[in-house]
Amino acid sequence: MSILPSPIRPELALPASLGGFAVRLLSPDDLEAIVALRREALACLTHPDAYVVEDDETGFLLQHCGAGGVTVGLFEGQILVAYAAVGFPAMDHPDNLGSHLGFAPERLGTVAHIASCMVRPAYRGHGLQGTLLKARFALALAYGRRHCLAMVSLHNHPSRHNMLKQAMRIRWAGELRCGSHLLRRQVLHLDLRGRSDGAGPVEHWLGSDDLDAQRALLSAGWIGVADRYASCGSAELGFATCSP
Ligand SMILES: CC(C)(COP(=O)(O)OP(=O)(O)OC[C@H]1O[C@@H](n2cnc3c(N)ncnc32)[C@H](O)[C@@H]1OP(=O)(O)O)[C@@H](O)C(=O)NCCC(=O)NCCS
Repeated sequence: MSILPSPIRPELALPASLGGFAVRLLSPDDLEAIVALRREALACLTHPDAYVVEDDETGFLLQHCGAGGVTVGLFEGQILVAYAAVGFPAMDHPDNLGSHLGFAPERLGTVAHIASCMVRPAYRGHGLQGTLLKARFALALAYGRRHCLAMVSLHNHPSRHNMLKQAMRIRWAGELRCGSHLLRRQVLHLDLRGRSDGAGPVEHWLGSDDLDAQRALLSAGWIGVADRYASCGSAELGFATCSP
C-alpha cells in the first residue's frame, strides 16, 4: 500500500491518454511488466554508461510506485510501452540532487527527481520521453514539488536532448555516488514556477564528455541550454550566460 501523501493539487494529475496511449500510474503489481520493459531497453543501450542499473533494482522501482514517488505507464492494450518515474526525496536525503546546486533546506523540500524513463525500442522516435517529461512536471506540481532535477550520463544524448527540449538546463556536472557506483553525470534543472532563466545565446560548444571544461564553465555561472549532433553519434553541448 502506498504511504505517499495524496497530491495537494489532484486536478494536475494525469489525463486518461497521452500520445495516443492509455495512461495510468503504476503500482507494485506492475513490477514484472516494468522489469521486462527495462530488460529490453537495457539490452540495446548505445553506451554502457547511458543507464547504470541501481544496486537494488526492485527496491528502486517499488520506491517510485509508492512511498517515495510515482511512476507513469503508457499502455497499448495490455502492453507496457513506456514508463517514467518521478521521485520526491526528503529534504535531508543524502541523494537529494538539489544539494549539488547548493539549494537551501526549504528548497530541498520542493525537489522532484525526474528519474528513470524507458521506451520500448519498437516505440521510439515519437517523442514519448518528452511526453512523459511533461506528465512528470504536472505530477511534480500536483505534489507541491516545483524544482525538477534530473541526472544524465555524459553519453546519453537522446535523453539529455529531450530534457533540454523541455527547457531543463544543465546546471552541474561532476562525479556522483549512486549506491556502489561513482558516475560522471550532468544535473539538469527546471523551476516549474520560476521566471525565464534569461539565458543568452550559446557562446561555447563543448564535447558532451568533456567533463572538466563543462565543470569550469558551470562553476563560472554558465548554463547548458542546447545540444547538437557531433561526429560518431556523439553530441556537443551549448553553454550560455544567464541572469542571476
Ligand atoms: C531515452 C529514451 C527514453 C528516448 O526515447 P524516445 O522518447 O523514443 O526518444 P526520441 O527518439 O523520440 O527522441 C530522441 C531525440 O534525441 C535526439 N538525439 C539522438 N541522438 C542525439 C545526439 N547524438 N545529439 C543530439 N541529439 C540526439 C534525436 O534527434 C531526437 O530528437 P528530436 O525528436 O528533436 O529529433 C529511449 O531511447 C530509451 O528508453 N533508452 C534507454 C533507457 C534510457 O537511456 N533512458 C533515459 C535515462 S533514464
